[in-house]
Amino acid sequence: MISPSFRPRRSCLYMPASNARALEKAKTLAADTIILDLEDAVAPDAKTSARDAACQALAEGGYGNREMIVRVNAMDTPWFTDDIKSICASNANGLLVPKIHSAADIVKISGFIDREGAHGDLQLWAMIEMPIAVLNIAQIAETASATRLTTFVMGFNDLAKEMRAEHDRTLFTPAISQTIMAGRAFDLNILDSVYNDFKDPEGFEQECRRAKAFGFDGKTLIHPAQIEIANREFAPDDSKVAKARAIIAAFKDPANAGKGVITVDGKMTEILHLRQAEQTIALAEAISAASR
Ligand code: COA
Ligand code: MG
Repeated sequence: MISPSFRPRRSCLYMPASNARALEKAKTLAADTIILDLEDAVAPDAKTSARDAACQALAEGGYGNREMIVRVNAMDTPWFTDDIKSICASNANGLLVPKIHSAADIVKISGFIDREGAHGDLQLWAMIEMPIAVLNIAQIAETASATRLTTFVMGFNDLAKEMRAEHDRTLFTPAISQTIMAGRAFDLNILDSVYNDFKDPEGFEQECRRAKAFGFDGKTLIHPAQIEIANREFAPDDSKVAKARAIIAAFKDPANAGKGVITVDGKMTEILHLRQAEQTIALAEAISAASR
């Protein structure tokens, strides 16, 4: 069942909340989601002013129907409590917490958000970037039914550092696979990590294709030049939409009433393909509804 609040998250652009020019520019960019960063992209001396700038930008608005997320500082930092309190008092769509370790972290943060009296739709997003989080991923995902958790965001810069690995995508395949399995088992959105080399559009496009093939809903981005490619690569293309419509129409055909398996365009087509087709159409419709 696809929720009526379903929205595309093909392109989720980070920007340091301390960068006033980026915050202003975001109002004109075609990113589905804007992530105002208070964490790694903000120097320690600028943490408080970046938080104030994020709150001011959210209060002033002007971001249309873009989803607005704030990445706060990690739980073990001196800024965490005030970050959460400030964002809970704002109209952000969600907050993204880095360096999550366990299911207990999610339960604790979600309870904190509730006690702060945040609006009911404020989502909790979790960065999956610590080895222990990958090892605990099923339990973390399972908390979603009783907490505000809706989304996993993978972070390979930190994961590589913690693993003492080279930053080579193939090394993260097991982590990607486990995170996607757990996320899907508990109905979460899952966003891929960033592509650091923002001046390499071909490499970025290839990485988007592989990420989509793996099952990611979209990609986190660091530069406006990456938006158009991500929007294109994570959207169902015209032929996929046409095939999906054909499958839906075939199952609606009275001649196929009550059948669990039919032939569409020469291929075996089961109810599971009908469900996939419905998801494709829901995504295509959400994209066109959100288009700006
Ligand atoms: N969001 C919004 N606008 C951005 C942006 C972003 N992430 N990155 C760049 N821009 C804007 C610049 O302000 C500039 O705008 P202007 O032409 O109106 O002045 C334009 O896009 C071109 O920027 P460019 O000169 O190519 O890049 P830069 O040298 O200014 O910045 C980075 C490069 C990497 C420092 C910058 O892209 C950035 O801060 N990215 C996000 C980093 C981040 O948030 N990391 C945390 C998660 S990993
Ligand atoms: Mg990180």
